[in-house]
Amino acid sequence: MQGDVAVVTGGSSGIGLACVEALLAEGVQVATCGRNAEQLDRVLAPLAELHPDRLAWWPADVRDREQVERLIDNTVERFGGLQYLVNNAGASRVSTFATTEDHEWLDEVGLKFFGVIHPVRAALPHLSARGGAVVNLNAVLARQPEPHLITTGAARAGLLNLSKSLARELADQHVRVNSVCVGLIDTGQWKRRYDASDSALDFPAWSEEIAADRGIGLGRFGTASEVAAAIVFLLSPRSSYTTGTALDISGGVSRYV
Ligand SMILES: NC(=O)c1ccc[n+]([C@@H]2O[C@H](COP(=O)([O-])OP(=O)(O)OC[C@H]3O[C@@H](n4cnc5c(N)ncnc54)[C@H](OP(=O)(O)O)[C@@H]3O)[C@@H](O)[C@H]2O)c1
Repeated sequence: MQGDVAVVTGGSSGIGLACVEALLAEGVQVATCGRNAEQLDRVLAPLAELHPDRLAWWPADVRDREQVERLIDNTVERFGGLQYLVNNAGASRVSTFATTEDHEWLDEVGLKFFGVIHPVRAALPHLSARGGAVVNLNAVLARQPEPHLITTGAARAGLLNLSKSLARELADQHVRVNSVCVGLIDTGQWKRRYDASDSALDFPAWSEEIAADRGIGLGRFGTASEVAAAIVFLLSPRSSYTTGTALDISGGVSRYV
C-alpha cells in the first residue's frame, strides 16, 4: 500500500482518526475531512509533522455533495490519484419511535445514505482507474435492532443492503466494496453519552457495566485501532478476492449467525 492514496471521512476523532493513523503507518498518503475545521487542525497537525507531505485535510460535511466533490478533487490534485475510500463520518441518534419526529428520520437516513453516496460518486472514476477499494462503516445494529436506536438501526440496515448492491455494480469497474459492522467502540461518541448520563461511575466502570449489560462476549468496549486494523485489511491487496462482505468487529456482541 506504500505510496497509495486514501480518503477517510470523519478523520478528526475516534475510528476515522485511528484509520488515518493506521494508513499512514502503512506508508499511504491520506486525506480526511470533518465539519469542524478547528478540531481537524488541532488533532491532525501533530500527525502531519510526523508524516510530512503524506497527510492533508479539508473541512467538509459528507451530506453536502459539492463539499465532498471538492474534498476528492483536492485529494487527487495533492496526491495524484486515489485508491481507497473509507466512509466513516457520522454519528448515531438515540431515540425511540415515540420520540422521533419526521424531520429526524429524514436527517438520519440522509446522513447514513449520502455519507456513502456522495463520496463514492465523486471518487469512483479515480478508484476505478486504479482498481480501488471502499469500506463502509456500519454497525451490528444493522442486523440486530435496539429499540432506543430505531432510526440509526433502520438506516444502517439500508446501508448494508446498499453496500451489497454497490459491491455488485462496481465490481465491473474493478472496485471492491466491503463493510465493517462495529459493536461498542470506545470513541468520542461514547464519551458524549457518558457525559450526558450524569453517572456517578468513572468512564471505565461505566463502560464495563454497559459491556456486561449488553452481553459483549469479550467483556469490554473495542478500541478504534482494533476497528482500523480490520479496515486496512479490507482495503489492502490481502483481501483482493473479498467484496460485498461485512466483517463484525464487536467482541462477540452479535447474536445472529
Ligand atoms: N463508537 C461506536 O461504538 C460506534 C458504533 C456503531 C457505529 N459507529 C459509527 O462509526 C463511525 C465513527 O464513529 P466514532 O465513534 O469514531 O465517532 P466520533 O469519535 O464522534 O467521530 C466522528 C467523526 O466523524 C466526523 N463527522 C460527523 N458527522 C460528519 C459529517 N456530517 N460530515 C463530515 N464529518 C462528520 C466528526 O467530525 P465533526 O464532528 O467535526 O464533523 C468526527 O471526525 C460513525 O459512522 C458511527 O456512527 C460507531
